[in-house]
Order: sequence, then structure tokens, then C-alpha cells
Amino acid sequence: MKRIKVLFVCLGNICRSPTAEGVFRALVEKKGLGDRIEIDSAGTSGWHQGELPDPRSREEALLHDVDLSDQRSRAVIPGDYTRFDYICAMDSSNLRELKRNCPSGHGGRLYRLTDFAPELEIQDVPDPYYGGDDGFANVYRIVEVSATGLLAHIQAHDLACAEGQITR
Ligand code: 4NP
Repeated sequence: MKRIKVLFVCLGNICRSPTAEGVFRALVEKKGLGDRIEIDSAGTSGWHQGELPDPRSREEALLHDVDLSDQRSRAVIPGDYTRFDYICAMDSSNLRELKRNCPSGHGGRLYRLTDFAPELEIQDVPDPYYGGDDGFANVYRIVEVSATGLLAHIQAHDLACAEGQITR
């Protein structure tokens, strides 16, 4: 059975996209869909290549019982554009960068994470790197709502057959 592949992308891959990866994985596992959905994250830059997520992101996630400590930062690579079905940018700048590098014909896989939470009425997950700790709590809240919406979307659009629903 084809696995749906989801990539979360921010600038450094140490704050927002690792949070999204960890939160989304927890939601997917809670629904018993761990074998149906593959999850990863990456940065449009390789500035923090090989590093653990930022301690402030790890602390915030742990408050919600989500452990980010097995993640390491990596940059987006050309193969990601064909490998992943959903490539979810954290902000407009990340999305612009992805669009600039995406091979023609594959742009339909590019999304903003917040596309899946229209009720939030925001476009960007704000970059928390140079701000205070409340920025990390805010990132977590936005990511949690959006990741929940993304999973509902994938269940409805990609996994509906497996759940016994008719897809036509
Ligand atoms: P992220 O946050 O894109 O959410 O991982 C940042 C991490 C590092 C930097 C900027 C944003 N930086 O300038 O090094």
C-alpha cells in the first residue's frame, strides 16, 4: 500500500518544522496510522545541519509530551520535491524558496501548513528564533491546530479507501 509522505519545511529546521514533525507524528501514531504516513522535516537553509532542534522548541514540545530529541537538522534536497506528496512550508518566505527550486510539474505538492487551518486566519507560522519564549508556545499552538487539519485532509483525500469509505 502506498504510503503518504509529508515534509515540513522552515528556514533552519531547528524550531518550527521539527515541532511540526513531532506534533504530526504524535497525531498520526495516536490514530494508528504510523505505517501509512511517512514524516520528515527540513530547512531551506543548511545553516544548522546535523543539529538537534532548538532547546526552546524541545522544552515547549515536552510540555505536551512530544519528544523532538531524535531529530537532526537537514537542508531540503532536490529529491524531496519528487519524493514527498505534501511539502508544507511554515511561512511565505519558505514557500517562495521552495517554489523557486521546485522542478516544473511538481508545484502542486507545495502548501503552507496554515492552509489546513483556515479558521486561524493567518498565513505564516511566525519565526520564533530571535524572540522570547512565548513565541515558541505560539508556534506550538499554530502547529497543533494546522497539523490536526492536515491529518484530517489526508484521511479524507488519501486514506479514505483504507478506512472503508467510498472515494469517487
Ligand atoms: P526555524 O527558525 O526556521 O523555525 O528553524 C530559525 C532557526 C535559525 C535561524 C532562523 C530561524 N537562524 O537565523 O539561524
